Amino acid sequence: MAQPDTTAGNPRVSLTGYATASAWAHFGFDYADWFDSRRGRALFLPLHYGCRALRPIAPAAGAFSETLYWRHRWFSAWAHAQAPDLALEIGAGLSTRGIAYAQAHPRMRWIDYDLPDMVAARRARLAGHALPDNYQLDVGDLLADGFGEKLASTPDTRAIAMTEGVTDYLDHAEKRRAWTAIASLLSRLGGGRYLLEVHPRDHIDQFGMAARLMFDVLRRISGRDLRNQLCVNADEAIAMLEDCGFSRARVLPDAELDAAAEAPAPAQRAFVLIEAQV
Ligand SMILES: C[S@@+](CC[C@H](N)C(=O)[O-])C[C@H]1O[C@@H](n2cnc3c(N)ncnc32)[C@H](O)[C@@H]1O
Repeated sequence: MAQPDTTAGNPRVSLTGYATASAWAHFGFDYADWFDSRRGRALFLPLHYGCRALRPIAPAAGAFSETLYWRHRWFSAWAHAQAPDLALEIGAGLSTRGIAYAQAHPRMRWIDYDLPDMVAARRARLAGHALPDNYQLDVGDLLADGFGEKLASTPDTRAIAMTEGVTDYLDHAEKRRAWTAIASLLSRLGGGRYLLEVHPRDHIDQFGMAARLMFDVLRRISGRDLRNQLCVNADEAIAMLEDCGFSRARVLPDAELDAAAEAPAPAQRAFVLIEAQV
């Protein structure tokens, strides 16, 4: 049967990965300056200062660029709390989280996966930097057959997987394919946990005009009507994850998300963090 031409369609969303990389450099995440770029700053800084200007009249929408800080920070804090032996970040884009984590935890193994163009862009920028031996960067397409099949399962491995800013760019059929691939990979590795963020439509709609403008920009970048691809609410995402092979999925409550002083935590967020496990 013909496979969907995934590598032709999805790399378009990697452009926003340049913006988030510059956001992380701006917010001072470890090694994030390695992936800061003129292209990323040209996307992130107008958004960031536009949000600041908007904040007095529309605090929720005006906090958008700060949510890039919080989302990244919460993913990293979650990974840390899991104390994994093996961490897989899929669609890692220009994140340096894995490099920093592997550096600090030499007994574990971290693998970043992405599509070929993004992996090549990362490799070009990483040339000249010393990387920890327990860190690996690999090409991996979540929507292709046999994702992660080269990974050998080792007994008693505490495995985690995460996708930050990836699956909401996929339509429902693609989300199912991606989540099934992650659930079956974790299951083959002996079980594990998966973290993702979901922007449910009922959360997005509270941002009114600002959300409509953002989706217009994202439609131009990705070539897709992203709003219509979103889950209606968090319950729909949880039911889909469980249908794709996860034994349990739940929204992480705010009490489980740590606080930090560097940026104001947004009172209203467009996304929820969901932890699923097999
Ligand atoms: C919007 S970027 C997010 C990157 C990074 N996680 C972040 O938060 O900035 C989406 C990333 O997913 C990758 N991607 C898209 N489709 C993919 C697929 N089918 N398999 C693996 N990675 C994919 C893109 O190449 C891109 O790097």
